[in-house]
Amino acid sequence: MHDPRQNLDTLLEIALNELGQQVTSDEVENWERKYIGKTGIFTQRSRMVGQLPAEERAAFGKRINDIKATLLQAYADREKLVKEHELARDLEQGQIDVTLPGRAHPVGGLHPSTTTLREFYAIWAEMGFQVYRSRDVETDEMNFELLNIPAHHPARDMWDTFHTTTPGVVLRTHTSPGQIHAMREFGEGGTQPIRVILPGMCYRYEQVSVRSEIQFHQVEGVAIGKHIHLTDLKGTIAEFARRMFGADKDVRFRSSYFPFTEPSMEVDVECLLCGGKGCQMCKYSGWLEIAGCGMMHPVVLRNGGYDPSEWSGFAFGMGPERMINLKYGVKDIRYYWGNDLRFLEQF
Ligand code: PHE
Repeated sequence: MHDPRQNLDTLLEIALNELGQQVTSDEVENWERKYIGKTGIFTQRSRMVGQLPAEERAAFGKRINDIKATLLQAYADREKLVKEHELARDLEQGQIDVTLPGRAHPVGGLHPSTTTLREFYAIWAEMGFQVYRSRDVETDEMNFELLNIPAHHPARDMWDTFHTTTPGVVLRTHTSPGQIHAMREFGEGGTQPIRVILPGMCYRYEQVSVRSEIQFHQVEGVAIGKHIHLTDLKGTIAEFARRMFGADKDVRFRSSYFPFTEPSMEVDVECLLCGGKGCQMCKYSGWLEIAGCGMMHPVVLRNGGYDPSEWSGFAFGMGPERMINLKYGVKDIRYYWGNDLRFLEQF
């Protein structure tokens, strides 16, 4: 059995010397394992303390701990130095090019239609309207007939329609069939008042141009109750326009025609660009059209389960893309579904 104190100073000197010759991280790690790791030389020595006479153990313990502290410090210093050299070398050899620009993480944004729809939802919600979604694919009956547009009615010419291969099934040309769905689902047999908006995509078989797309959003609105009058319709739409476009904007109602409303109107807001003076955007009229609306036709109310002698209601339909056009001066409707980032990034 040999004395654990033997050659301690010499060993320390050798270890420190050797450390000074390690030039890579791997070498430094090996050195650590050899001398101060779990099975390292100095670790083994410290475990042999029990072989010493009791009165000498404390002195030995202190000595070996001092040595280990010295080695640990030297090891940490060396490791730092070697790592710095390695980094400097990598930089120099071009393995890391710090002059390269960083990789940008593009952040997506919401489509202008989505943000506008959300603005709609918020405004209508404040005014007590819930959002109700109905299907994009409709029967001819829902899209036309129950809305008082029988087959061969000339009013069908107002809607160029996509027909599916299933006879009598079409892509909805407007959100108005949602009126029937909403009445049947929430009216409880024509006994309950309703206040909903019906947002969604609509489809028309159009020649695509600057002004027409084959798909676009609409936001339909329906309010049914026992004492709903034309004044409620006008007040509600005017209030919406004020919240959407600004309190200073004038609104006007023009008489119009829809088969499912009587009377029917179209709503204009004072031109956002020229303030009513007349410009290219408003075609020198001073007004921009924002919605179609009217008092619900008795036939439609009846188709929804309501007795039109007791109940009345109003409905309206608005096009959010149209409104974005008005608000931002977008001149070509085809941008909306063109997926061109140069357009989308502007919002
Ligand atoms: N559905 C009509 C359209 O697409 C708009 C509208 C909705 C008009 C509700 C009156 C009432 O043109």
